[in-house]
Amino acid sequence: MNTWTRKLRMGMVGGGQGAFIGAVHRIAATLDGQAELVAGVFSRDWSNTQTTGTQLYLDPARLYRSYEDMAAAEASLPADRRIDFVVIVTPNNAHYGPAKAFLNAGFHVVCDKPLSFDLAEAESLAQMVERTRLVFALTHNYTGYPLVRHARHLFRSGELGTVRKVIVEYLQDWLVEPEEKRGSKQAMWRTNPAESGAGGAIGDIGTHAFNLTEYVTGDRVSAIAADKSTFLPDRMLDEDINALLRFRGGGKGVLTVSQIATGIFTGGSMTPAAAYGLGYGIQGLNSVLQSALNATNQKFQTEADQLGIQYAWKAGYDPRGFIAFLDSISGTANNNFVSNEPPLQKRLLNSFSEIQYLPLRKESIEDTGEFDRIRSRVR
Ligand SMILES: NC(=O)c1ccc[n+]([C@@H]2O[C@H](COP(=O)([O-])OP(=O)(O)OC[C@H]3O[C@@H](n4cnc5c(N)ncnc54)[C@H](O)[C@@H]3O)[C@@H](O)[C@H]2O)c1
Repeated sequence: MNTWTRKLRMGMVGGGQGAFIGAVHRIAATLDGQAELVAGVFSRDWSNTQTTGTQLYLDPARLYRSYEDMAAAEASLPADRRIDFVVIVTPNNAHYGPAKAFLNAGFHVVCDKPLSFDLAEAESLAQMVERTRLVFALTHNYTGYPLVRHARHLFRSGELGTVRKVIVEYLQDWLVEPEEKRGSKQAMWRTNPAESGAGGAIGDIGTHAFNLTEYVTGDRVSAIAADKSTFLPDRMLDEDINALLRFRGGGKGVLTVSQIATGIFTGGSMTPAAAYGLGYGIQGLNSVLQSALNATNQKFQTEADQLGIQYAWKAGYDPRGFIAFLDSISGTANNNFVSNEPPLQKRLLNSFSEIQYLPLRKESIEDTGEFDRIRSRVR
């Protein structure tokens, strides 16, 4: 029974006018009617924060000049007014500062990937989360795709056996030209090691591919040999990565990530092949081919596309991934982060998970029965 009589109160750091992902978080977090944005510091530029706050109809008294001011001021508000959690959607070098400030002030945190600027910050955050027992959710949003969940289920239930080979790719081409010299704010910080961190493409989208690999297979990567490339003159960070992976369970993998893969707007796929001779290829993360040796006999399509589509396009975001945001928060938090789950934590973790497993449409391409035959033979 729902004993709550109010919405969760959300604050935001980043996501001001002209920003990319903040608006997507705002829509996704409020889509199920469980949360509302009440406070924010949307930019380092105070006039941007004011304009953004006005456009979002926020109380001017809940707009702040810095995240430090916001954490302190919100903590000093009465319990029935202050935020319940904060969402951090700033460039990578500005994740740790706000996360630390809000955790120390007693607030739950939802942070976009990559977790931090470097390993030392990540380890420090992990300790803070252990100590405070607050929810810290990292939004690896692709983990919310229904077919990614489906693949994970098949691996974890033992249906597909041990992993032998995984091929995972995330390819884009938007940095094939020097966009950072043409005024793209998103390109500027992503190609600047002082803001992005040591990784370029590998930190920006490789983090999604890597996360998917372990999330789906349930195995851990134990060793990586990576060939990092930078083709454009003056670029300081990697644009293209080809890596070989070894899994703890003995499997092998290939991870390929690029932001200069000409002709590919944005695309991800994953093909984890398992011991039983069964393949599971996630294409575009929204349809899947499950096959037994060469006899393809099962195809699943997600119906996620039908849901939330107009909101997603409004936010300028891939609608199939959009719904995933809701899911990812609970999914990632449940799996990666500690929580002693008193009522508020529990609600935070649950409130985003209503659309947990969207219906799959199974299309038999050529149902030869081969899939079942081979499975029974190899077990
Ligand atoms: N999960 C995903 O699929 C996904 C997609 C895009 C971006 N991201 C991540 O989200 C983060 C933001 O990326 P983006 O593309 O939206 O960047 P962006 O440059 O479009 O927006 C960043 C915003 O943060 C604000 N900002 C910077 N420093 C600040 C500070 N100290 N206090 C308050 N506001 C501050 C900027 O003014 C801007 O409004 C990055 O870490 C990125 O990796 C994740």
